[in-house]
Amino acid sequence: MKYRKLGSSDLEVSEISLGAWLTYAGGIEAEQTRACTEAAFAAGINFFDTANVYGRGAAETAWGEILSDHPRDSYILATKVWGQMSDDPADRGLSAAQIAKQIDASLARLQTDYVDLYQAHRFDSDVPIEETIEALQQVVRDGKARYLGFSEWTPEQIQAAIDIAGPELFVSSQPQYSMLWRAQEAEVFGLCAANGISQIVWSPLAQGILTGKYRPGEPAPAGTRAASDSMGGFIARLMNDETLTAVQRLRPIAEEAGLTMVELALAWVLRRTELASAIIGASRPEQVHANAAAAGVALSADLLAAIDAALGDVSVTGQTLAPLATAGVRHR
Ligand SMILES: NC(=O)c1ccc[n+]([C@@H]2O[C@H](COP(=O)([O-])OP(=O)(O)OC[C@H]3O[C@@H](n4cnc5c(N)ncnc54)[C@H](OP(=O)(O)O)[C@@H]3O)[C@@H](O)[C@H]2O)c1
Repeated sequence: MKYRKLGSSDLEVSEISLGAWLTYAGGIEAEQTRACTEAAFAAGINFFDTANVYGRGAAETAWGEILSDHPRDSYILATKVWGQMSDDPADRGLSAAQIAKQIDASLARLQTDYVDLYQAHRFDSDVPIEETIEALQQVVRDGKARYLGFSEWTPEQIQAAIDIAGPELFVSSQPQYSMLWRAQEAEVFGLCAANGISQIVWSPLAQGILTGKYRPGEPAPAGTRAASDSMGGFIARLMNDETLTAVQRLRPIAEEAGLTMVELALAWVLRRTELASAIIGASRPEQVHANAAAAGVALSADLLAAIDAALGDVSVTGQTLAPLATAGVRHR
């Protein structure tokens, strides 16, 4: 495993990290969750990402039981706040009261006194940004989190926070990023790098599509995320024949480079020095080991050009997303 510094923090995170989203929130059995998590430790992965909202606490509870068998200083733990936590539509967001309540609930489920990284899962335009920032800073002052991050904020939202609290407020940004999803590459990566904020990216395998296991015109193989009733909805957006056909064109490119498709996809995101880590999901321990092997793999300029030529215009870019730019920033 290779390790990179997380933004302006003193944390050294593994280039490949493990996330709990659809998998350990109940998507796979408890025994497999434990096997995947232990495989991560065995592979040198020291960075674990979850959220309060994954299974409304279920993913944090599952990891609390497993991680508490390991010394607390042997892993770097990240969780998030924002998502709706009960049937009450007001039980969500980034108000001071919600953040104060949710961090304590997360810590109880995770069976620890602190998380290393506490992330705003999205921006909350209903709350003045000053209130959110002060509440997050209070979590750090109370010793309940060491560092702060955010996920999927727009450049405007990131800049507003930096203007108020300085670049040291946040150490990480968590965008979706893969060969197929490049929306935040254009603006967010540069803005964050200039302010000491690393990218820790989600769905670097496009939820499994970039492994090449889904073939155009064929049903999704049994036991995969795309074949699952409970999880398949999330991957559906990228499961079209044009995308799956383009991904198959990566197969000979990987083979010629002596890499697996998984290694090609993960090395592709890790080529960017703005990244600290690629957060993978895994439903089986073998996947953890296969994915961890991508750490330290370098891709040549020719290889990168061949990847872009193979994919053509199936990737989602910043420009494609621009019309969707989300709500603005509310001030006190
Ligand atoms: N901040 C956010 O809003 C946000 C949103 C989503 C995710 N995340 C974070 O990012 C993490 C990763 O997301 P993700 O699970 O979508 O990541 P991903 O790594 O792109 O996809 C993971 C899935 O792909 C399949 N897979 C992984 N390795 C494989 C291999 N070697 N061979 C074949 N199939 C393989 C597995 O599914 P099957 O075996 O079931 O097919 C696995 O569950 C999450 O757990 C979470 O921590 C954050």
